[in-house]
Amino acid sequence: EAHSTLSITVVGASGDLAKKKIFPALFALYYEDWLPENFVIFGYARTKLADEELRNMICTTLTCRIDKRENCEDKMEQFLKRCFYHSGEYSSEEHFVELDRKLKEKEVTCSLEPENGRTGYFTCRYLQIYSWKASSAKGWTRVIVEKPFGRDSESSAELTRCLKKYLTEEQIFRIDHYLGKELVENLSVLRFSNLVFEPLWSRNYIRNVQFIFSEDFGTEGRGGYFDNYGIIRDIMQNHLLQILALFAMETPVSLDAEDIRNEKVKVLRSMKPLELEDVIIGQYKGHNKGGRIYPGYTDDSTVPSNSITPTFAAAALFINNARWDGVPFLMKAGKALHRKRAEIRVQFRHVPGNLYKRNFGTDLDKATNELVLRVQPDEAIYLKINNKVPGLGMRLDRSDLNLLYRSRYPREIPDAYERLLLDAIAGERRLFIRSDELDAAWSLFTPLLKELEGKRIAPELYPYGSRGPVGAHYLAAKYNVRWGDLGGDED
Ligand code: BG6
Repeated sequence: EAHSTLSITVVGASGDLAKKKIFPALFALYYEDWLPENFVIFGYARTKLADEELRNMICTTLTCRIDKRENCEDKMEQFLKRCFYHSGEYSSEEHFVELDRKLKEKEVTCSLEPENGRTGYFTCRYLQIYSWKASSAKGWTRVIVEKPFGRDSESSAELTRCLKKYLTEEQIFRIDHYLGKELVENLSVLRFSNLVFEPLWSRNYIRNVQFIFSEDFGTEGRGGYFDNYGIIRDIMQNHLLQILALFAMETPVSLDAEDIRNEKVKVLRSMKPLELEDVIIGQYKGHNKGGRIYPGYTDDSTVPSNSITPTFAAAALFINNARWDGVPFLMKAGKALHRKRAEIRVQFRHVPGNLYKRNFGTDLDKATNELVLRVQPDEAIYLKINNKVPGLGMRLDRSDLNLLYRSRYPREIPDAYERLLLDAIAGERRLFIRSDELDAAWSLFTPLLKELEGKRIAPELYPYGSRGPVGAHYLAAKYNVRWGDLGGDED
């Protein structure tokens, strides 16, 4: 699409996501020459801003790659010249008509060709009002939608119904930014392009799989959004479940978006319904430590003081198919924990009749192979193996075959939003959530959420900065699973 042209509308342009992620990602694509020569970007939001004010606001978050600094300032200036702003209400069709008129003007002054594309970066809430644009644009129109995609099966279906009034499935790009993360994309490469992993990828060799997300900070200002959703909707139903589906799916017919998404849907539809007894929830509480005050979740001024919204959850899930029957897939997600990390951990079975078992003492878990994909921070893939300690004796220890991205690939890793925006512009749907996938994901979590909320189940409190509620430990123990590193080598 070398000669194609593109106009992009960023709805919610004065918000946090736009400032922190969308504009920097668009700039990175521009800086790396991924955008067509002719493009314009329009910010749209309620706040009244002049073009120049938008530019001043976003220029503070644009960055150049550490390893490619030359021309950075010039490039930023060029980029900012292509950014414009229009303020309007999200509920006013009239204001969107004005935006459309301005867009057309710019398309002319920037001499965009008639077969231009339009990509909009929209958030769901406002969709009813402005998707009319889809039919008014020339060329193609694609709408990128950011979560929340409703808060249960019904509201999500309603949103999809409304999207489809104006758009076809092919035009809808639902973002789950975890799918744009380097290590998550690599999961399929690891499995399907190496002989040594795929044959082990089943109940025959894998004891359990863990998907872990933790943040070392609380809601801090985002409580207003968060309190209405909670950690299960914020992280589990989307980010962790998407990774699980990619992890567990059968080999797709090809790398085409539809083939991959077909396989993911099959996994989601094969999952055993989630029971309350296989879930534990928590909420962080404030405390003082070393002279510092750590605020509790309900201390956040945007959160009601009697909120029982979970900021932590752990769940045991099962896939009822031939490959995974009986294998626990454990998820754990939490805010205000002791560290920031996202990882996939695969614990393998014990070696049958291990010749060396006496070298491990009584705890055979210490001899278990584990494969870890650390999504962030400090991206890495490592396999824990048993190894002879060099020397005349016969002592074994656990070592890592370690692929640390920082050492092997010193180039900076692009942000997930760069990958995803680029794919949307190219019309590549592989990493976006199809409607039936979303339905299946909600079907799994909606009954559980209704029960939790209907019964007003109180979360177990855990101190800000801790490892989370002890209930997560008992849940894992019920399935004979230990969270994290079996050898205890890691923090
Ligand atoms: C978002 C959640 O989807 O993901 C946030 O709404 C969370 O609550 C964020 O902080 C985490 O993303 P990342 O890329 O920083 O791990």
